[in-house]
Amino acid sequence: MKRVISEQQIGAVSSGKKTVAKNILPPASAPADPGFSLDVINWQKQHGRHALPWQNTRDAYRVWLSEIMLQQTQVAAVIPYYLRFLATFPTVESLAAAASEEVMAHWSGLGYYSRARNLHKCAQAIVAEYGGIFPSDPLLLEQLSGIGRSTAAAIAAFSYGTRAAILDGNVKRVFARVFGVERYPGEKAVENELWLRAVALLPETGVEAYTQGLMDLGATLCTRNRPSCNRCPLAHRCIAYASGRTSELPIRKPKKAIPEKQTAMLLITDGDQILLEQRPDKGIWGGLLSLPEMDAALQPGHTDFDIALARMTAPFGVPASVEKLPEFSHTFTHFKLHVTPYRIALAQRLHIAAQGSHNWYPAARMAAAPLPAPIKKLLLAVFREPDLLSG
Ligand code: ADE
Repeated sequence: MKRVISEQQIGAVSSGKKTVAKNILPPASAPADPGFSLDVINWQKQHGRHALPWQNTRDAYRVWLSEIMLQQTQVAAVIPYYLRFLATFPTVESLAAAASEEVMAHWSGLGYYSRARNLHKCAQAIVAEYGGIFPSDPLLLEQLSGIGRSTAAAIAAFSYGTRAAILDGNVKRVFARVFGVERYPGEKAVENELWLRAVALLPETGVEAYTQGLMDLGATLCTRNRPSCNRCPLAHRCIAYASGRTSELPIRKPKKAIPEKQTAMLLITDGDQILLEQRPDKGIWGGLLSLPEMDAALQPGHTDFDIALARMTAPFGVPASVEKLPEFSHTFTHFKLHVTPYRIALAQRLHIAAQGSHNWYPAARMAAAPLPAPIKKLLLAVFREPDLLSG
């Protein structure tokens, strides 16, 4: 049965779990272009993939299973899982009735395990709510566990020929290049625009070949790196190709600003020795030696600074002078650390070699000490400066 749904349904927008049917198709911003789908369909028929295990069937169970497995996973990795899964669970009823451990065991190694949990839940809903028959309406499919808007469209198109638009990562890349989209396609506003285009470009007929063609183009020619533009049926209409910008489009995800933290580090020296502290095993610089730290908000000359410092140095001596050294920063993968180093001279060194995780360490052994690189750099610089060591 071939089912055609209204333009309004095709242009439905999702808001969280509930799908709100809303006409979002101002034609001016997303022009129809029958030549586009014709190019894709003709290319798919001649050069696309036709013998994947989930093709040449209209069995919605098989189509659904493959589409869920193909989310975030490459075709080559999916094939053996798909075949094994289908051999054990040949129908949606058999999957719905299976123990969840058995379902998880068949997914084991494929990753993104929430997909398997959602798959099981979805199979149970299809049996309980739809008598084992997948609906052909993408808006209904989208209400089921693990099925987003693009997956719903692919299932509906491949199983029932429903005229619905897909927009997965590969299709976003194709569109970003062909239409010269100069903003990151993961951005909500950009994604909304791409959905408008995806809907406007749908062919009147042949949605199966068109949908498969878009997927095949993205996976085989319009690849992220070194796309094969010389074989691409869309090259003659591709803005990225014409302007030599295929390596820049789609625009990459903008780097998030990483959080910044402040700390004060104490260089408590005694002649050619410095007080080091073993860091806890967990956290940054785990298990390495480093400098004792204090709250960076405390300012020298203020009582709370003096109290904290006196408490910190009590087992080793009495602080006599405090000198602020040049600040520096170190960037970790998840945050940037701003360090204010203070050189502390002790008036009276108490001759205790070690106290808890603190240890006096000779400058001569500094180069070989298990110190984090930026701390080693700081200490080597300080120890090379004789006037910094007079305390
Ligand atoms: N990726 C997502 N769906 C696909 C399909 N049906 N065939 C090939 N690759 C895909």
